Amino acid sequence: MRNPCRTTQWSSTTRTLIGSPRRGSVPDALVTISTVSDYARSSAIRLIAAGLGYWLRRGVAESSKAPDDELGESAGSDERQRLARELHDSALQALYGIAMAAQAARRTADAIPESDRLIEALDYIVDQSEAALVELRSLIFGLRPESVAEEGLVAGLRRLTAAVAARHKLQVEIVAEMEPDIDNSAKEALYRIAQESLQNVVKHASARVVRVHLVSEGEKVELVIDDDGIGFDSDADHPGHLGLSGMKQRAMAQNLQLTVHSPKGGGVEVRVRTHALPRRTKHFIPWS
Ligand SMILES: Nc1ncnc2c1ncn2[C@@H]1O[C@H](COP(=O)(O)OP(=O)(O)OP(=O)(O)O)[C@@H](O)[C@H]1O
Ligand SMILES: [Mg+2]
Repeated sequence: MRNPCRTTQWSSTTRTLIGSPRRGSVPDALVTISTVSDYARSSAIRLIAAGLGYWLRRGVAESSKAPDDELGESAGSDERQRLARELHDSALQALYGIAMAAQAARRTADAIPESDRLIEALDYIVDQSEAALVELRSLIFGLRPESVAEEGLVAGLRRLTAAVAARHKLQVEIVAEMEPDIDNSAKEALYRIAQESLQNVVKHASARVVRVHLVSEGEKVELVIDDDGIGFDSDADHPGHLGLSGMKQRAMAQNLQLTVHSPKGGGVEVRVRTHALPRRTKHFIPWS
């Protein structure tokens, strides 16, 4: 539920930001950035506290429940949805305010002589706040289990890749057009596999480019995530590491075929598809 005090505070921040026709000077805009940043900082602290509380409660709940405890699952899902709403209503709005204020200040700064350093600083704030917006939207998307069901796998993958591209110095290419005609639980599995694959690329690959390619014809679906990084021994065991084994479990549970292949020259290709797909997707763009 929305906190009425917070809504009031945010409304006045929004009014300060965009409501007054007299506004527009750089000092005004910077004061606004500072006001909104303070608000964002306090929101972030509240949310970190909420997030920690969530993970602690979930840790305790998971250690004491059977893996198929549906009640525990739905409590965890309610908590995730609450956290997603909180993030949406407070931090996302505050960040949006920062991005708008920074853009307004940047436009004004153009007219000021010898303002190169100010412009550089404002460009930095604009870039960072826009990247953070993309990332936060993707985080909120990922927290809501019904997101893929509501918005579709294609939208989810686009959000995910946009967030990775905004956050990391990595070229992310995506080809995903047709929404597959498969169960939401299978879409959710494909989304989570893409998410972990991209996280692995960011963490381990030292890649320059990663590509996400979704091909679907009705219920025949193939998703490929491949990078041009250093590769690894994909036949080896990785005790204590959960990402790849979690991907395999998700695929098995949904009757999807998953292969993780790392050729000698480097790079990793994660390929997951429905059993019904009669043909393999070619390696669609040759590495340059
Ligand atoms: N795209 C990749 N490029 C290079 N190495 C990779 C890639 N994906 C996985 N690996 C290697 O495989 C190992 C196992 O990956 P896995 O996702 O299971 O664990 P992790 O990423 O180390 O930790 P986590 O449990 O948080 O996922 C990694 O530690 C890394 O050495
Ligand atoms: Mg991993």
